[in-house]
Amino acid sequence: MKISAGTPDAMPPGLRRLFYGIFCWANRHPGALRVFGAVLRRWPFVGGWLGMAARANAVKAVLTRPNSFSNRAHAPNLSAGDYLIGMDPGPTYNTDRRLLDDRLAVLKATLPAAADTAVQIQVQALKPYGNKPFDLIDDYLMWIVFHAMYPLFGAATDRVAAGATGNLNDLGLQRQYLLEIRYVAGQLLSGSSATLRIQRRAELCADALRARIADVNGDIQGAWGVNGPVNVISRNAVGLAWISHPVTVQSGALAVQELLGRPKVHRVLRAEARRLGTDAVWQDTAFRDLVRNHVLELMRFRPIFPLLARDVPRDTEFETGARHNATCPAGGKMAIWSIAAMFDSDVKKDVSQFCPARKWGNDEDLRWLMFGYGTRQCPAMVYAVDILTSALIGLLTRPGELQLARGEGQAIAYDGALMSRMRVRFT
Ligand code: HEM
Repeated sequence: MKISAGTPDAMPPGLRRLFYGIFCWANRHPGALRVFGAVLRRWPFVGGWLGMAARANAVKAVLTRPNSFSNRAHAPNLSAGDYLIGMDPGPTYNTDRRLLDDRLAVLKATLPAAADTAVQIQVQALKPYGNKPFDLIDDYLMWIVFHAMYPLFGAATDRVAAGATGNLNDLGLQRQYLLEIRYVAGQLLSGSSATLRIQRRAELCADALRARIADVNGDIQGAWGVNGPVNVISRNAVGLAWISHPVTVQSGALAVQELLGRPKVHRVLRAEARRLGTDAVWQDTAFRDLVRNHVLELMRFRPIFPLLARDVPRDTEFETGARHNATCPAGGKMAIWSIAAMFDSDVKKDVSQFCPARKWGNDEDLRWLMFGYGTRQCPAMVYAVDILTSALIGLLTRPGELQLARGEGQAIAYDGALMSRMRVRFT
């Protein structure tokens, strides 16, 4: 149950803060989740008792049974209203999915060139910082993703960001919009464990987002070239706004955080970028593949959704990998430990090693598991990786070495489960 600030909290505030603190800590420490995941893989009957799937086969099997394990588990955390990710299969899901696929088709036609252009502009914008600190999220990734995903709202993008009456070039208004959708998306991540203030913030931003979209619905309808009921356009525009941008920015920040923790890997990539030179670095397909493989591997080690949730509408069972199936009583929940599945050494012996060049062969799906699996797998995963690949290439083109800017307070600041700041500098 989602508990809003208007409803009395069922949990004492201290206890809620404690649970939320543990949840956020676990999200920031994927290594700890991996260790617990390894225990669940080793003794799968424990996962069976707790309603947790951890082995690769178990995770994939649960994720391919959308009728038994329902995406409605997300619904209470969609503060801006229902959207694809929280729906069960059916007519509404199909209509919304068609709308999304049409938008993604436009993105497919523009990427990765649009992302490269956005990155090159943003790299120029970083030059005045020299070797002074800047915020990787607010000064780099946020804008790259915004511009690279421009086709999602096409001609209506600036109007969506500025609001019905705002100045279209007002960066402050654009930033306000990007924060608004960040907080709405954050609620999907933190769920009902979040403190009431955090949930209330998501609800306020969700109200603002819905009002913003309602005001510019005509522009969106024009840009999308569709004639549908207003509520269908609004639902999809609201959903697309919050689901696309924040998760990609956050995943980019997590990938860079992981890279900076691996200086040798970083050094090798930088050396290759230097060898190619600032122009060839954008054209060399082998280098792009190399960086893309790194992005995927970095994301595997630091996924934004290490766990996924499902509702269990009817009594059922799932195969944990233990001798007996685990029972799942109707009305319960399932926790899917994608992070454990991605590190299942029964599938690939060396899977705990950081190895971007690994040949995954028939197990390629595990490499992409941070985007889910099966029919409900992220439909935009290839584009998100394209954008993050361009973003990383951009950082590698700079002469200095990117490092966390320590010494002036914490380089990384968190806002609940999300990273809100990552101060870095080129040294
Ligand atoms: C790096 C960035 C991204 C990550 C890590 C990510 C991750 C995910 C994951 C794990 C799921 C599956 C959730 C589940 O099964 O419960 C998902 C679903 C989804 N994602 Fe993404 N996503 C990213 C970017 C995007 C973008 C850019 C868009 C839109 C343009 C998008 C749209 C969606 C939609 C609509 C769904 C629901 C699909 C369905 O239920 O049929 N995602 N994403």
